Amino acid sequence: MDAPLAPRRADALGVHSLDHFAFSVPDIADAQRFYQAFGLDVRRDGDRLELRTAGNPHRWATVVGNGAPKRLQYLSFSAYDDDYDALVRRVAGRGACEPHALSDGRGTWVRDPDGTHVQVIAGPKVSSSGKVPSTPAAAVPGKGAAPNRSTAQPVRPRRLSHVLIFTCDVLESIKFYEGTLGLRLSDRASDLVAFMHGIHGSDHHLLALVKSVAPGFHHCSWDVASLNDIGLGAMRMHDKGWTKGWGLGRHVLGSNYFHYVRDPWGSFSEYSCDIDYIPKDERWPAADHKPEDSFYLWGPDVPREFTINYEGGES
Ligand SMILES: [Fe+2]
Repeated sequence: MDAPLAPRRADALGVHSLDHFAFSVPDIADAQRFYQAFGLDVRRDGDRLELRTAGNPHRWATVVGNGAPKRLQYLSFSAYDDDYDALVRRVAGRGACEPHALSDGRGTWVRDPDGTHVQVIAGPKVSSSGKVPSTPAAAVPGKGAAPNRSTAQPVRPRRLSHVLIFTCDVLESIKFYEGTLGLRLSDRASDLVAFMHGIHGSDHHLLALVKSVAPGFHHCSWDVASLNDIGLGAMRMHDKGWTKGWGLGRHVLGSNYFHYVRDPWGSFSEYSCDIDYIPKDERWPAADHKPEDSFYLWGPDVPREFTINYEGGES
C-alpha cells in the first residue's frame, strides 16, 4: 500500500495551515530593520517586504509601508488540493468577497466577523507536522557547552508558528473559523482569549484570538530551536535598541517558552519554542480555563502596553 502523501485527518474538512498574513505599517524601512534584526530573511521590493525564515522558501508574511498607522490587512490559510472545492462552497455559503487589494488575488475570499479579509488557497502544508525537539543535547561532561559571547551564532527562527489577532467577539470568531475554515478550538479562557489549531496536525495554535473593542494585529510568533535561542535573540534585539517587550516566560495554554519583542508600531514578534503539538487524530479537550490561572506559568509582570490594541482601542 502506498504511504499517504501528507499527514491528514480523513473524516473532516478544514484548512491545514496559516499560509501567511499581511499587515501595513507607517515606515517600511523601520520594518526592514526590525525583522532583519529579529533574524528573519527579509526581502524588500519597493514599499513591500516579504518575511521568510532561513533556508525555507516559503513567504510567511507580507508587510506593506503606506505611511498610515499599523493595520492588520488579511490572513491567508491553505488547504489540500482535494479539499479546496468543498472549502470554496463553504466560503460561498458564508458570502464570498473580492480579494484584498494587497494580495495576489488567488483563491477564494471571505470576511471574518470583524470584517478582516480571509483568503483560502490550495497549497502545501506549511504548518508543523510533528514535534521537533527543541532542547539541545546536554553538555558533554568535561567540556564547556556555551560559546563565547562574540562567537555565538545568529538566532534564526525556523518557521512561523502563529499569529494572535484582536477581535470584538471571541466566541463569534471561534464559530466563524470553525464553521468556515474548519479550524478547531484548542483552549480558551472565558470569552477573553481563544487558541485554534489545524485539523491535519499543527501547533497548539496557528491562530489565537483576544478580545478588544476593534480588530487588529497583536503579534506574530516564530519558532526557534531552543530556550537558549529565545534568550540570545532577546538580548541581541535589546543590544540593537529594541528594548521593550515581555519575557522570558512560559505560557500555560500552548506551553511554549516565550519572549516578545515590541515592534516599532506597538505590536510584537515572539520568539517561541517547545509549543504543544496536536496530532491530526487527536481530540484535544478544548477546555475553558480561568483567565487568571492560564495566561502564563511564570515570567515577569505583564507590561501594561502588552494588551493595548493600537488599531482602535484597548483590550
Ligand atoms: Fe504567541
